[in-house]
Formats: sequence, structure tokens, C-alpha cells
Amino acid sequence: MSPDLGHFRENYDRATLRRDDLAPDPVAQFTRWFDEWMIDPRYDAAACVLATADADARPSARYVLCRHFDADGFVIYTNFESRKGSELRANPHAALVFGWLEQNRQVRIEGPVTLLDDAESDAYWVTRPRGSQLGAWASDQSEVVEDRRELEERWAEAAGRFGGEEGTEAVPRPAYWGGLRVGLEVVEFWQGRPDRLHDRFRYRRDPQDPTAWEIDRLAP
Ligand SMILES: Cc1cc2nc3c(=O)[nH]c(=O)nc-3n(C[C@H](O)[C@H](O)[C@H](O)COP(=O)(O)O)c2cc1C
Repeated sequence: MSPDLGHFRENYDRATLRRDDLAPDPVAQFTRWFDEWMIDPRYDAAACVLATADADARPSARYVLCRHFDADGFVIYTNFESRKGSELRANPHAALVFGWLEQNRQVRIEGPVTLLDDAESDAYWVTRPRGSQLGAWASDQSEVVEDRRELEERWAEAAGRFGGEEGTEAVPRPAYWGGLRVGLEVVEFWQGRPDRLHDRFRYRRDPQDPTAWEIDRLAP
């Protein structure tokens, strides 16, 4: 039987979110919260959950690191042949959730997914440590592996092929590895409040004017 989890009952009273506080667009609002969260060195502010669904609409979710965000969307890097990659090929829509729980905050993002072009993926690839680049060559992400030794052997093979030392010839980016952008259709900001009367504001693109955002308060 699971332990009793019912006593974890925090009364959320750290902050408020009022309509007057909101930035006119969700990226500016996200930036404000992100900057506040980044101050806490205990956490990787970029960690978020990416949810996808397969062709039969069965969902799956996993943490990823958001490496960049702007008005075009939120960018993550991954192996396109992974489970998430194949789900996104079948169904190119996703949701991202940032859970900044110590501040009683979450941000939810939903939108269509597109691949970054090669130049954008290359620009990020070259900033990665060589060991991680070799790791991308060594791992058929989401496939079954016999044991850890197999992975380490594959990493060593990649190091033998491309060179294992920093500062030697560049490791090329595998064609199956690169960036995905989750575009912005809906972005919701949630601030926990006492008595479960939380503040929720949802930004949706204005159907009449794709540069403008409609903002609604939602019931908690
Ligand atoms: C904090 C955290 C950050 C992660 N960041 C990434 C990432 O940026 N890209 C990635 O492919 N996997 C990342 N992972 C691993 C994924 O959660 C997942 O195991 C992997 O991508 C395979 O998922 P899939 O089989 O659903 O495709 C991260 C895991 C954690 C816990």
C-alpha cells in the first residue's frame, strides 16, 4: 500500500498574480517568472515536462531541458528517432509544463511542433561538451540495450571514430539529433493561492490578429 500522501497539504501563499501584473504577451510574462526562478541555484530552471501523443492519441511525457525561447516558441534538443520523435512525426503537437513548485507556480504551453533547420541545430550542437556529442552517437535513444557495457562500448567506438579529446577535430552532428520548437498557441500561468483559489491566466492567440493575445482568467 502506498504511504499516506494526504498530509502534504501546503497552503499556497507565496505570491499573487493579478491581471494588472501581466505582461501583454506570454513570452514577456514567462521571462519575468523565469528570471525569478533562475536566482535559485538548486534547480535547473530549464527543466520542463514535454508531453506528446502517438497516432492513437495515447499520451506520454518526459522531462527535457528548454534551451531557448522567444516569440516563435520553446526549443528543446533530442534524438528524432526516440519515442517522442516518432510520436511527434505522427502527431506534431505537444505540451510543455514548467513546474516551479517552490514558488507555487506552473506554466503550461501548447502548440504545434516543428524541427529547427540544420543551421540552428548545428549552432547548438557545437556548444555541447564533446562527451555529450559522443553520447548522442552512442545512444539509439529509447531502444532496448543489453546492458550498460554495451552503451559504454558504443561511446568508446564513437570516441575511436571521431576522437575522444576536446580540442581535436569537431564531432559532426548526427542527422537524427537536433532541435524541436513547440510553437505558442496557448500559454497558461498558474500561481498557487490560499484556499485553492489559485490565480490562473491563459493567453490564446487572437483569431482576428495573430500578433495579439487574448487573456482570460480561469477558475482554479
Ligand atoms: C531533468 C531532465 C532533463 C532532460 N533533458 C533532456 C533533453 O533535453 N533531451 C532529451 O532528449 N532527453 C532529456 N532527458 C531524458 C528524457 O526525460 C527521456 O528519458 C529521453 O528523452 C527519452 O524519452 P522518450 O523515450 O520518451 O523519447 C532529460 C531528463 C531529465 C530528468
